[in-house]
Amino acid sequence: MPEGDERQDAHDVDPSVFRAPIGTHDVLPPDSEGWIEVVATFARRARRFGYGLVVTPVFEHLEVFQRVGASTDVVRKEMYEFDDKGGRRLALRPEGTAPVVRAYVQHRPAVPWKVWYLAPHFRYERPQRGRYRQHWQLGAEVMGVDDPDVDVEVIALAHGFYRDLGLERIRLLLNSMGDAASRPAYVAALRAYLLDHGGSFGEEFRARVEQNPLRLLDAKRPEWQDVIERAPQLTEYLSDASAAHFEQVQQGLRALGIGYELTPRLVRGFDYYTATTFEFVSDSLDAAQNALGGGGRYDQLAEDMGGPPTPSIGFGVGIERVLIARAAEPGDRRPSGSRLDAFVIDAIGDGAATLLAAELREAGLAADRAYGGRSVKAQWKLADRSGARYAVMLGRREAEHDAVAIKDLRDPAGTQRELPRRELAGWLQARREDARHETPGADW
Ligand code: HAM
Repeated sequence: MPEGDERQDAHDVDPSVFRAPIGTHDVLPPDSEGWIEVVATFARRARRFGYGLVVTPVFEHLEVFQRVGASTDVVRKEMYEFDDKGGRRLALRPEGTAPVVRAYVQHRPAVPWKVWYLAPHFRYERPQRGRYRQHWQLGAEVMGVDDPDVDVEVIALAHGFYRDLGLERIRLLLNSMGDAASRPAYVAALRAYLLDHGGSFGEEFRARVEQNPLRLLDAKRPEWQDVIERAPQLTEYLSDASAAHFEQVQQGLRALGIGYELTPRLVRGFDYYTATTFEFVSDSLDAAQNALGGGGRYDQLAEDMGGPPTPSIGFGVGIERVLIARAAEPGDRRPSGSRLDAFVIDAIGDGAATLLAAELREAGLAADRAYGGRSVKAQWKLADRSGARYAVMLGRREAEHDAVAIKDLRDPAGTQRELPRRELAGWLQARREDARHETPGADW
């Protein structure tokens, strides 16, 4: 996991040493194994639920993002904006929903439109563990349906994904933001209450109440907490339609055995949310960035962006945070390092290793070998370091009767055994099947 994001950017100090910009990080093997597994787990689950992959550009016209949250920090303060050489005002994607809605409005696919995505996101935040200036999200969106069953399905997709990864110390927080009929009355009541009770909190408080009182519900300032805690709750102001929708979502979750905590003060960071909102938090992470993912309905956004009325819901998951949470879970089930089935050792030196490695790879196995005519001893060292499950040695003695020698590299006391060469691929494939059963979910 990325460390040291707080350090001074070394490039500022010594121009001859390039480092990744502050708040970004490289993902290198073998850590990237966990990364691929998270992505593949999500992709598998999304496919099972009938979602197709959508890929949108890393940058969009600035206005696309301005539509999603004029009053949110992500849009106001944290966007990477720039002019291209043609004078267009563009921004790097700070969040994934607006581009998907832009693509929907542009292409008008048939609804329900069920899509998932994997994309880098950019926010100029103060970097710390679990909070980066470039982070990666997996997300899913369903456009064109207001049925509460879809809310349940989307939450179940996220829930199942975390479970597939073996994450246990997570909680689902659930709230409803109401609809266009419920929100204004609540916002007015909340604003009046906050101005009334927070009169002594000064100008900043006042300005924030005026701008968007909802955002204050998750303000962290200790001296404001008493007043915020006693504020009226949105769920008390839900219209009949919103209340019924929210009740059905809860029933659906209970029917699937998905536990949730009603959290009236859950305020998600974008203006587009309506009705159901949710967040998955991990008890393995610091409270300031414990959200492993979150989302909700955004029933007005397509219209706001020039499309037809299209009730929609989705969520995004932070890959880096999932990896941190996973490493912190007691029964850490991360795959261990390399996934090579075999490392081929050539003790004859006549090019046979090239052929054998090619044969194994064509048979669907992961095989590697040494290069540059290394000594047999050096090849054994490389085999050990490769993390391969088995070393497969081609020696003169074995070659005489068209056999290979095999050694289990995870068993230090393991002895070599011999196998007819034509049986090798099948034998390795069978071992791979066994391993797949031992570590469910580790396969991709
Ligand atoms: P979000 O809550 O801003 O929602 O981000 C989704 C997830 O991305 C967070 O729960 C967190 O795991 C991760 N994340 C956010 N910012 C950072 C960061 N700076 N560093 C590391 N991880 C981060 C959205 O972006 C919405 N578009 C989700 C959505 C989809 N709502 C409806 N559809």
